[in-house]
Amino acid sequence: MITINVTTRDGDRQQIDGQEGSALMEMLRDAGLGVDGTCGGMCSCGSCHVYIASETTLPKPSEDEADMLEGMGSIVEVRPSSRLSCQIILKPELDGLEVEIAPQF
Ligand code: FES
Repeated sequence: MITINVTTRDGDRQQIDGQEGSALMEMLRDAGLGVDGTCGGMCSCGSCHVYIASETTLPKPSEDEADMLEGMGSIVEVRPSSRLSCQIILKPELDGLEVEIAPQF
C-alpha cells in the first residue's frame, strides 16, 4: 500500500492509500477529491492536474503531458511542480508523496 498526502482545493489535508501500479488520478478520483479524470488517463483533458508539493524523483513528463500542461497555462496556474496525475504511476518510492489538487480546469 502506498500512502499519498493530499491537500484538497478547500485546503483540507487527507491521506489516501493506493496500490502499486495504479495511477494517482484513479486514487484521487475514487477518493472523491474533485479529480474527474474525464479522459480516462489519456493525457487529453487536464482535469487531473495536481501540484507535487514534495521533493521527489518523479520521471519527467512525457512530451504529451508537457504539451498539455503548456496548453493549460492560459486558463489555470501551471507551476514547475504541475503534473497530470493520470501520468503518475504509484511506486513504493512515492510513499508519502505530497500532492495539492490544482484549481478546476
Ligand atoms: S485524466 Fe485526462 S489528462 Fe489526466
